[in-house]
Amino acid sequence: MDKKMEDDDVANAHPFLRYIEKQWHESWEILMRGFKGFSSCSWAMQQHQEWAGLRSWRSPAAPPNERRRWGDAGPEMVATPLDHAGSFSPPPRSLAEWGALILATPRPLSKAHLTHHAYKLWCSGALPIGVAAAMDSPARPEKPQLVHPRRVPTAKVLGISPSVHMIHNLAHIELNAVDLAWDTVVRFSASGGELDSQFFADFAHVADDESRHFCWCEQQLNELGSSYGDVPAHNLLWKDCQKTSASVDARLAVIPMVQEARGLDAGPRLVERLKQLGDDRSANIVEQISQEELAHVAVGVSWFLDVCRRLECDPAARFKELMTSLNVELRGPFNHKAREAAGLPQSWYDTAMDTKLEQKPLSPQVRSRQTRSKSFVLCFYTGRDHLFLPSRGLLEIGNCCVFRERQSPLEKLVLRSDPIQSSPEPSKIPRCRCCRR
Ligand SMILES: [Fe+2]
Ligand SMILES: [Fe+2]
Repeated sequence: MDKKMEDDDVANAHPFLRYIEKQWHESWEILMRGFKGFSSCSWAMQQHQEWAGLRSWRSPAAPPNERRRWGDAGPEMVATPLDHAGSFSPPPRSLAEWGALILATPRPLSKAHLTHHAYKLWCSGALPIGVAAAMDSPARPEKPQLVHPRRVPTAKVLGISPSVHMIHNLAHIELNAVDLAWDTVVRFSASGGELDSQFFADFAHVADDESRHFCWCEQQLNELGSSYGDVPAHNLLWKDCQKTSASVDARLAVIPMVQEARGLDAGPRLVERLKQLGDDRSANIVEQISQEELAHVAVGVSWFLDVCRRLECDPAARFKELMTSLNVELRGPFNHKAREAAGLPQSWYDTAMDTKLEQKPLSPQVRSRQTRSKSFVLCFYTGRDHLFLPSRGLLEIGNCCVFRERQSPLEKLVLRSDPIQSSPEPSKIPRCRCCRR
C-alpha cells in the first residue's frame, strides 16, 4: 500500500482508527504470532530464532583460534608462519587493504597464513575497516586446473583414493570460502558507513575460520600423499560471488545462506562416507569443519535480517525473490536440523514446503488464528471497532469483537493472502450485529 495514502487515511480516520494506529505495530506483531502463510517484516524478525552460539562466536573477548594444525587428538595450536607478511611496501593499513592483498595472493597457504595474521591485527584493534578496491577474480595458483563442473574427474578416473578426492574437493571449497569472505569485506567496504563495523568483523572472522579449515585439509592431503592442486576443480563458487557483487542482500542470501548452508547438508554425509572407507582421521576433520560452518550460515542470516529490516522488506519473500532473480537452485536433501539451528527457516529454502502449505488443509487452530488476525486487519482498514461475520462464535481482540463462521463467504475473503488487497469495500461489510455500526 502506498505509504502516503496510508498516512492520509490514518490522519482523516475515525477516532478509533487513530487510537488503533498508535498501537498498530505492537498489536500486529501479537496477532500475527504463529500465523503461517502470511508474514510481515516485523513479525518475521520477531519470530526468527538466532543461532544460540552467535553471541559467543562474536565475542571480542574470545581470542583468534590458533588451533590450525590437526594433531593426534584433533585441532592443536601451532605457530603460524607469516611468510612475507612483514615485507609489503607499503604495508596494508586497514582490514579492507589486507583483504585486497590476500585476494591478490595466489599461493593458497600464503592466503591462509596472511588471513590469520590480518584477523589477529584486526582483533588487537590495530586496524580500521578502511576502503579498498575489489577484484573481478582472486589470484589463484596454476593448479588445480579449473574445468566445467561436469568435467571434474572422479577418483576412479584419476586413480586416487576416494578420501583424497573428497578432501581435495573440500580444500577447494575452503579456499574459495576464504576469498569469498574477503571479497565481502573488501567489496562492501565502500558502503560509506552504511554497514556496521560488526559486519566486517564477522566476515573477517569467517575468512579466518575458512583459512584454518583449508590448513587442516592441506595437512591431511599431505599425509595421504597428495596436495592441493592435484585434482581438477570447478569455478562455480566464485561465479556465485560475481553475480552477487551488486548488492549486499544478494551476497548474503547466496553465499552464507545457500553455499555455506549446503555445507551443513553435505557434511554429515561426507563424514559417514569417510567412516565407511575406514578413514576416521579425515572423517573427524570434516566433522569439525561441518560443525564450525554453522556459525557462517548464522552470521549470514543475521545480517540478511538486518539488511531486510533496513530495507523494510519481508526477509522470506526477499530471499525467495533473490533465488529466482539470480537463478539459484535450492537443492536438497537438506539438513533441516542444522539449518534451523543456524537460524535458517525451512519455509525460506524448501520449495517443496510451499506446495505442501498450499495443498495441506489448515488446522482449525491455524484457521482461527488467521481469522482473528485478518479480521483485525479488516477492522483497521474499515475504521470499525466491531465486525460482523455470519456468526458461529465471538472472538475478542483488544477493542474488537469479531463474529466468525468458518465457511462464510466473508471469511473466505479474509483468508486470502493479502489483507490490504482483499479488504472489501466498507459498504459491502454487513453491520455489526451487536452495535449495528
Ligand atoms: Fe569452512
Ligand atoms: Fe564456511
